[in-house]
Amino acid sequence: MAHLIAPSVLSCDFANMQRDIEMINDSSADWFHVDVMDGVFVPNISFGFPVLKAIKKHAKKTIDVHLMIVNPDQYIEEFAKSGADVITVHYEACPHLHRTIQLIHSFGLKAGVALNPHTDVSVLNSVIKDIDLVLIMSVNPGFGGQKFIENAIEKVKDAKGLIEKSESKAVIEVDGGVNLETGSRLVKAGAQVLVAGSFVFNSESPSKTITSLKEM
Ligand code: DX5
Ligand code: ZN
Repeated sequence: MAHLIAPSVLSCDFANMQRDIEMINDSSADWFHVDVMDGVFVPNISFGFPVLKAIKKHAKKTIDVHLMIVNPDQYIEEFAKSGADVITVHYEACPHLHRTIQLIHSFGLKAGVALNPHTDVSVLNSVIKDIDLVLIMSVNPGFGGQKFIENAIEKVKDAKGLIEKSESKAVIEVDGGVNLETGSRLVKAGAQVLVAGSFVFNSESPSKTITSLKEM
């Protein structure tokens, strides 16, 4: 499949959110990437349900929710009701990961698992057939605009190997420091969904930048 682009709403102009959501609707982007941070799992707080519901009101594409929170099980039903299509939880935040995946599926949503830069892909051996998405973090989660961590390329290759070996249907998404240079290397390595925040929203024409990420 051609790779998908998921602009991260975290980098949009919150005072003009509807405008930026409509820009994404009209662009060649595929998904909305929505970063939820709790100030506990990561050293930053972003936004929660009211903002997700506001995004849902205008968004016409898949809503990909990335939960950087502890104890996600407690909130999955509410995220489902607020408009998520895909919910990704962090491996490092889920002591009962299999149960969490089942819970996400019970609401008819796709389930993803994110791995911090220090977490090896092999930890997913036992759940790879049960998940729809593997999210390789190419920065330490918590902030937009950080520098790409190189080991993500090898981890994408590892994830691809694991998915092929186990005949899993999971897609590989990468998040953090994506631009045209890192993005094209990630796609070559096997990434299928690229999240991009600051590279899109800090550019002169976010819509054209999305097209160039899509066409590379
Ligand atoms: C980081 C978030 C990312 C972030 C990416 O914790 O998960 O989705 O918005 O931003 P850039 O593309 O600026 O690295
Ligand atoms: Zn994210």
